[in-house]
Amino acid sequence: MAKSVRRVVLGVTGSIAAYKAPLIVRGLVKKGAEVRCVLTPSAERFVATLSLATVSKHPVALGMDDSALWEMAHLSLASWADLVLIAPATADFVARLAQGRAQGLLDALVLSTKSPVVVCPAMDAEMWEHPATKANISRIKEFGYCVLGPEKGELASGKIGRGRLVEPDEIVRSVFT
Ligand SMILES: Cc1cc2nc3c(=O)[nH]c(=O)nc-3n(C[C@H](O)[C@H](O)[C@H](O)COP(=O)(O)O)c2cc1C
Repeated sequence: MAKSVRRVVLGVTGSIAAYKAPLIVRGLVKKGAEVRCVLTPSAERFVATLSLATVSKHPVALGMDDSALWEMAHLSLASWADLVLIAPATADFVARLAQGRAQGLLDALVLSTKSPVVVCPAMDAEMWEHPATKANISRIKEFGYCVLGPEKGELASGKIGRGRLVEPDEIVRSVFT
């Protein structure tokens, strides 16, 4: 990614690794980026919107039907962003990206943006190794999305395997190098 990235949409999906999202926001902000967080409904179970709003200094966008959003957020955020970063990205979200779905705010935003998209998957090793996930990852790479990780290491299940979210510092470094 380019050093010129200034406006980042951070999309957070419903992985246990979503608790690391505020660290990613903090790292991006320290590098001088403006960050807007967009959560899937599932992600709200894993990370507090208050934490993300506080570190990004902006309200968190949750859905296309959010009455606080007076404009079409998926379109306005899609064109506002220099970069759309999805971290963590669930297996289901990757599948939706591969299908070009637009049902939720984050899905529609990715479909609408002309900016680079970076996807950082996080899931169980078994989910990562499934042929369906592999096919979905190949597909989104064909779309031009950059896939960062996942890493091998200790997973939420306690097992060791590939599926771990790339560390927040590393994600931030990748965005700016
Ligand atoms: C405790 C818990 C942890 C989960 N962690 C993950 C995960 O790390 N990766 C993943 O792909 N799905 C995980 N899931 C399943 C997703 O939450 C589920 O597929 C959800 O529908 C994803 O929604 P979203 O992609 O719209 O955010 C987890 C579910 C639970 C209950």
